[in-house]
Amino acid sequence: MKSLGILLSGRGSNFVAIADSIDSGRIPETKIGVVISNKADAAGIATARQRGLNALVIPSKGRPREEHDREVVAALKQHGVDLVCLAGYMRLLSPWFVQQFPHRILNIHPSLLPAFPGLEAQEQAFAYGVKVSGCTVHFVDEELDHGAIVVQKTVPVLDGDDEHTLAGRILEQEHVAYTEAINIVLGGKSTVIGRRLVTNVTSMRGTI
Ligand code: GRF
Repeated sequence: MKSLGILLSGRGSNFVAIADSIDSGRIPETKIGVVISNKADAAGIATARQRGLNALVIPSKGRPREEHDREVVAALKQHGVDLVCLAGYMRLLSPWFVQQFPHRILNIHPSLLPAFPGLEAQEQAFAYGVKVSGCTVHFVDEELDHGAIVVQKTVPVLDGDDEHTLAGRILEQEHVAYTEAINIVLGGKSTVIGRRLVTNVTSMRGTI
């Protein structure tokens, strides 16, 4: 049985999608070991409690990044977490945190990276006038919205869209993408070569 640690700061719809996938068997042999929020009033942490999960608030406000990170990592390790899933966690991880879970931290971002990193990615994409956007699940490294890509889903930008309708359609795909990405990473058949995540590496090497 693999254990996920979920970090969030707000609404928590990606967390709920992951929890639903576990409950329905779409993510097999996996449990959520702990849900941690850096904000006490995050809706996601209330939902985690309602679902009977281990739910912790570790406030970050006014604290040095690494001191807070050390407390979060200690809680993740205490709960035996194999894979950390950032799900709307509005805080940069320190390099030290990233090094504690090599290729074992995922993030979801609401654009097709490397386009539109950072905040309000859907609004950025809409304002730029792109015809296709989407979402990206990627490994977390020391740079913002930067690590190797695990799954991307595309979403067309329609003439009648505004940034809110576009964001809503991207969010639906986020919920699908995160489940796929967790299964890929926990499936253990993928390797990161350079920036590329590839599966069945031995057979691929045979074709190069
Ligand atoms: C999502 O759009 C996600 O891509 C971004 O933050 C938002 C979190 O939404 N990183 P939710 O809290 O999972 O509903």
